[in-house]
Amino acid sequence: MRESILIYRNHLYLKLAALVSLVATTAYVWHTPFERPNGGTWLGYTLGVVAGGLMIWLAWFGVRKRKYGIGKLRLEDWLSAHVYMGLALAIVATLHAGFQLNWNVHSALYVLMMIVIISGIVGVYFYIRFPIMLTENRRGMTAEVMLTQITDLDREIRQLAMGLDDATNAAVLKASQETIVGTTLFSQLRGFDEDCETTQARRFVEDSEGSGESTSRRQLLTRLVRKEELLKRIRRDVQLRCLLKTWLICHVPFSVAALMALAVHVVTVFYYW
Ligand code: HEM
Ligand code: HEM
Repeated sequence: MRESILIYRNHLYLKLAALVSLVATTAYVWHTPFERPNGGTWLGYTLGVVAGGLMIWLAWFGVRKRKYGIGKLRLEDWLSAHVYMGLALAIVATLHAGFQLNWNVHSALYVLMMIVIISGIVGVYFYIRFPIMLTENRRGMTAEVMLTQITDLDREIRQLAMGLDDATNAAVLKASQETIVGTTLFSQLRGFDEDCETTQARRFVEDSEGSGESTSRRQLLTRLVRKEELLKRIRRDVQLRCLLKTWLICHVPFSVAALMALAVHVVTVFYYW
């Protein structure tokens, strides 16, 4: 479903974006101004207006996304067009500027716009890959089912440990009380915890194997290993969802910054006209 945004309606939006880019490139090659090509020639202004219009339209997607069921186009149309028109914008804006980048507010707009476009490309990768990665990681379970299984295992683990020595009991209790899953943004993005209390308890039980009560110890170890494996998958699940949110946190504010820079660019251009 997600992947289809790239081939949506038989590549309709790819073709439209290619057409816009081709027309802009042909006009740029054909146009021979007296001075070096730049944003101030008639073609420069035309391409500037197209680029500015495209950017505002791309940002409008944020509003459109939240208006469910409004308009003729489906959200898939919007996203597919958003992706390809966003790429066409890079070409149109570069031709508009006549490849001239200097240390000024105009180039700041260009840099911000390119950050949004590049982050958009990363986003497309995420949107296509993540649903597959999430499904593979969950193996048919939801995060809630995994958490319920962990709680059940925890209960069994504590019961088994009660019949064993004090040190094992203490390690298992610590694992059940102090095992945490991604409390900070950093730990969520990291997706693993090498100091996890459950891992430490598992290591402890592994190392003390052979010190009597071998059947209970083995049963305990089996459950600890299973709990550890479920924790690993939950952390990965949290990591993937967190990466997606973090990506949006990058793409959207840079879009807003680029829009503000566009306003500054246009005002500056007309002020010094
Ligand atoms: C996404 C939209 C746009 C981007 C990324 C962009 C970027 C740039 C860049 C990098 C330059 C070259 C600055 C230099 O020579 O140092 C430039 C020049 C220029 N832009 Fe834009 N621009 C955009 C939209 C617009 C719009 C909407 C207009 C006006 C309607 C406009 C008008 C101009 C003009 C007149 C110049 C020439 C300025 C000069 O040579 O001093 N641009 N633009
Ligand atoms: C200057 C150009 C761009 C602007 C201003 C822009 C702006 C936005 C905005 C405002 C959203 C909505 C986010 C939200 O509110 O949830 C969005 C989403 C998105 N954009 Fe862009 N974008 C640009 C270019 C691109 C490009 C070039 C790509 C891909 C190559 C891209 C890929 C995406 C994706 C995948 C989403 C997420 C859609 C979803 O959550 O369903 N964007 N963009």
